[in-house]
Amino acid sequence: MIIDILTLFPESFSYLNSSILKRAQESGIIKINVIDIRNFSKDKHKKCDDYPFGGGAGMLMSVQPIYDSVMSVKRENSKIIFPSPSGTTLTSQIAKTLSKEEHLIFICGHYEGIDERVCEIFNPLQISIGDYVLTGGELPTMVIIDCLSRFIEGVISQESLLEESFSCGGLEYPQYTRPADFMGYKVPEVLLSGNHKEIERFRRKASKERTKLIRPDLDKD
Ligand SMILES: C[S@@+](CC[C@H](N)C(=O)[O-])C[C@H]1O[C@@H](n2cnc3c(N)ncnc32)[C@H](O)[C@@H]1O
Repeated sequence: MIIDILTLFPESFSYLNSSILKRAQESGIIKINVIDIRNFSKDKHKKCDDYPFGGGAGMLMSVQPIYDSVMSVKRENSKIIFPSPSGTTLTSQIAKTLSKEEHLIFICGHYEGIDERVCEIFNPLQISIGDYVLTGGELPTMVIIDCLSRFIEGVISQESLLEESFSCGGLEYPQYTRPADFMGYKVPEVLLSGNHKEIERFRRKASKERTKLIRPDLDKD
């Protein structure tokens, strides 16, 4: 998959060059390009924002630099995404669907957002990462990329996906690693027993209880 990120703040994206996403890029599963929208401004001072018509607080990102930066990477099979509080809230299912795309383009809004004509021209898929407002689309873009990447084959083991919260139909069971006793806080005995049937039963029950308690909306029966 190729991912082009259009932003006024390319320095924000170092997170994508660490850990699992770094390995996914090194192995060629994902290729991520971060593109500075400012390079496309036709203004002599490389300005990319302006006051909103009709007045109001803050500045708005102008249509021209965004239009030209999208056109510099857009192909026939591109899916354009605009992270926005007005979008559909991100879910595992949306991320899974996006993981099948060949080319994603992310438009990162900033300040008060972007000129609406960007949406009129490109009709991007608008995705919100929750009912709150951040200063820019850079973090939401990273959240969406991180989330969808986990569904691309080879990025993480498919087994971990099956048991993960939301994919397993609720919240995941609690997990422990060594030591078995930390300052008197003990790992549940059954997990040390080697009895896989019992371990499986314990985990299913713990997952169910946790889901019921914390996210009853996910509890299906
Ligand atoms: C300060 S916000 C603009 C908010 C906009 N004026 C509104 O009220 O909906 C700047 C940019 O951050 C991004 N953003 C902020 N909150 C977001 C969220 N919850 N989900 C996705 N993107 C968000 C969007 O790209 C947005 O254009």
